[in-house]
Amino acid sequence: INKSNTIDESYTPERLVKVKDARKDIELSKTAEMALEAMFIELRAAGFGDVSVTSGYRSYSYQESLFNSYISRDKARYPDWTDEQVKNHVLTYSAFPGTSEHQTGLGCDMHNLGAADVAFAKKEAYKWLEENCWKFGFIIRFPEDKVDVTGYSFEPWHYRFVGRYHANAMRQRGMCLEEYVEYLKK
Ligand code: DAL
Ligand code: ZN
Repeated sequence: INKSNTIDESYTPERLVKVKDARKDIELSKTAEMALEAMFIELRAAGFGDVSVTSGYRSYSYQESLFNSYISRDKARYPDWTDEQVKNHVLTYSAFPGTSEHQTGLGCDMHNLGAADVAFAKKEAYKWLEENCWKFGFIIRFPEDKVDVTGYSFEPWHYRFVGRYHANAMRQRGMCLEEYVEYLKK
């Protein structure tokens, strides 16, 4: 799912289950949650006890309210901007409802900060995730060097489950999901 490959408003993933290592009530698709649990066992063993999941499955309507709250916040923050400028800015970090992978139940946010922030990229825990997440079938969905391709600013906290085979293939080729999907079509 991305800005041009959208998801239906009524779509809900099958088999949503509760995420163990979460800060609050968070659900993910069962396969992704099981892979995440395996990753967290290793992450904890490596000494990173403070990382937790802060967002997982989000319904269309929740994404809508989230997106609208960012619009209101940025309107107040940048009073000189037009509505279009504000919207375009929000679209660099928040998905318009119907375009978020959080709605698939396969995407989740995790970090050890008060709130998701690009500063997470400087943390040792992030370095561990960057080095190891593919072994559990996860990818960093919005990498720093793929902003032009994904259309989103770098999100070191946002991970997407694609399965180990594809996570490994993408890592070996240095591709983000958009590039990899194109590559698979050839
Ligand atoms: N922050 C990501 C792009 C989302 O809203 O899905
Ligand atoms: Zn996210």
